[in-house]
Amino acid sequence: IVASFHRKVLAGKRVLVTAGPTFEPIDPVRGITNLSSGKMGYAIARAAREAGAEVTLVSGPTALTTPYGVHRINVQTAQQMHDVVISHIRDEDVFIAVAAVADWKVVNASEQKLKKNTEGDAPQLQFEQNPDILAEVAALPHKPFCVGFAAESENLLQYGEEKRRKKGIPLLVGNIGHQTFGKDDNELVLFDERGHRRLPLASKQNLARQLIAEIAERL
Ligand code: CTP
Ligand code: CA
Repeated sequence: IVASFHRKVLAGKRVLVTAGPTFEPIDPVRGITNLSSGKMGYAIARAAREAGAEVTLVSGPTALTTPYGVHRINVQTAQQMHDVVISHIRDEDVFIAVAAVADWKVVNASEQKLKKNTEGDAPQLQFEQNPDILAEVAALPHKPFCVGFAAESENLLQYGEEKRRKKGIPLLVGNIGHQTFGKDDNELVLFDERGHRRLPLASKQNLARQLIAEIAERL
């Protein structure tokens, strides 16, 4: 890994990374989000930059510092993340979708703050599916090299390979523990057309460097 970073394996390449959770409003002061901290995505953006790439990071709400030399664009909703990604994608060589994107948005979000009422009625939220950013990018005629992530709670080896094929991508990264959210360490499994390979427990920054080396070999 160290050797590949001395060689700047991604020099001259442009890499777009999504990271963090998304936030889907219910009203002006409330919304639906998830437990993604953004740490894995930020570590990957940092590793790609260290490897010589020009890196754009499209980030949902996180408490993290922008990695050195990385161009960060902040978004809240899945739709905003989609629009930013699609407007940048034609210049990119690699797309790494690390964000935990909300699968649904609230279509009847209120323009004003919802108020409790004396009857104790709860608001009725209606949902609609969000665009699948990764699947859309992977279907473009001039697509970048696409890498997906999958957080599964069971059957990772089966679901991981199925998800890779369903999304039409050459490389998918599964989290072995689904308790990865917020942690500094992780264990990954890489799925490609040849099968799967484990990256044992290590810091997210170390795993990010290994993943960047794996991606660079495949370009
Ligand atoms: N993804 C995306 N846009 C979405 C949903 C997911 O770009 N609207 C990306 C994620 O960033 C990740 C990959 O797709 O790289 C897999 O996300 P995941 O939630 O595991 O898969 P889904 O296809 O949404 O399937 P499900 O949640 O039902 O398992
Ligand atoms: Ca999902």
